[in-house]
Amino acid sequence: MKLKVAPHIRTLVPYPPGKPIEELEREYGISGSIKLASNENAWGPSPKAVSAMKDALQNLHRYPDGSCYYLAQSLAGKIGVKSEEIVFGNGSNEIIGLLITAFLQPGEEVITSHPTFLMYQKLVQVQGGINKVVELSEDMRHDLKAILAAVSPKTRMIFLDNPNNPTGTIIDRDEFALFMEELQDDIIVVLDEAYVDFVAPELRIDVLSYIRGSKPVAALRTFSKAYGLSGLRLGYGLMDVEIAGYLNRVRQPFNVNSLAQVGGVAALVDDEHYHMTLERSREGIAWLTREVEKLGCRPMKTQTNFFLIDVKGDGRMLYEHMLHQGVIVRPMEAYGYPNYIRITVGRRDENQRFVGALAKSLKELGYG
Ligand SMILES: Cc1ncc(COP(=O)(O)O)c(C=O)c1O
Repeated sequence: MKLKVAPHIRTLVPYPPGKPIEELEREYGISGSIKLASNENAWGPSPKAVSAMKDALQNLHRYPDGSCYYLAQSLAGKIGVKSEEIVFGNGSNEIIGLLITAFLQPGEEVITSHPTFLMYQKLVQVQGGINKVVELSEDMRHDLKAILAAVSPKTRMIFLDNPNNPTGTIIDRDEFALFMEELQDDIIVVLDEAYVDFVAPELRIDVLSYIRGSKPVAALRTFSKAYGLSGLRLGYGLMDVEIAGYLNRVRQPFNVNSLAQVGGVAALVDDEHYHMTLERSREGIAWLTREVEKLGCRPMKTQTNFFLIDVKGDGRMLYEHMLHQGVIVRPMEAYGYPNYIRITVGRRDENQRFVGALAKSLKELGYG
């Protein structure tokens, strides 16, 4: 076929789609497998959200409310912002794309870390922008000094996920304050807080004060993690009304479906599910860390519901080996960590199963 494709589109690498779990099971001849690979909520969705969405099914013949009015009101009241300071999206992924569409012109630069959440660099490329990539520091944290040094007259945006995926590390509040002081005032800083719910409150950055400061800052959050609604696709950005205005210009009118809006409102008041998730995640992470250490691996400290493990051998081989036991983890060579895997905390039975499978694989592969 004679297609004229722009070079920045031709060179894009498609997101590797994971196979449905049922297909994997068929392929590997296993059953009852567990997935600890995608930083999801192991305890399921908020039951209140599920019940509210069931009731809303009969209205699916109507288009959704393009302003997410009720969801915006609920969230604004809960976190203390004006509803005009919120932009909702089809997952926070969409907000990343909207920011890039609205504020980046082809040939302009965006700074991201390596490794970090893969979508930033991909969406910059889709827009024809230039990715400037700064290595994480030795202790696997965003290197804010090196990021400042990488700023050029063409820099338009900086993406910082806090905590960082895949490392689980966070940005120090004082370091961030200094960084913001030194940064020029026409670069948009995007603080992606997809996992902020899991961070100890005293370690969180006060994003609202930055959003209301003199420099452009947007914070991204999601219902995919602590609220357990990944499949629903609901996320949002908090930002100055002027920035939000541009995102609202470029977004599709009905970008958030009606079930997501109803489910989101209900999830926001489901404190029981939210706190249960955080408590069990914390307990699970602590237990897993100890067990993994006992097996001679090196677990990395985390502020999230997932963590990296240095398995002291080839991570992809270990991943394959564990797959045969029905335990799905994430190999990390694509992120530049060939000897690591990343796992998400699961329910207690899943964590136990993971540790059993890890012990078997480490032994059979002769790692350590
Ligand atoms: C750092 C980070 N940001 C954003 C997202 C996307 O979240 P959402 O499901 O809201 O699109 C993820 C998902 O894994 C993530 O790890």
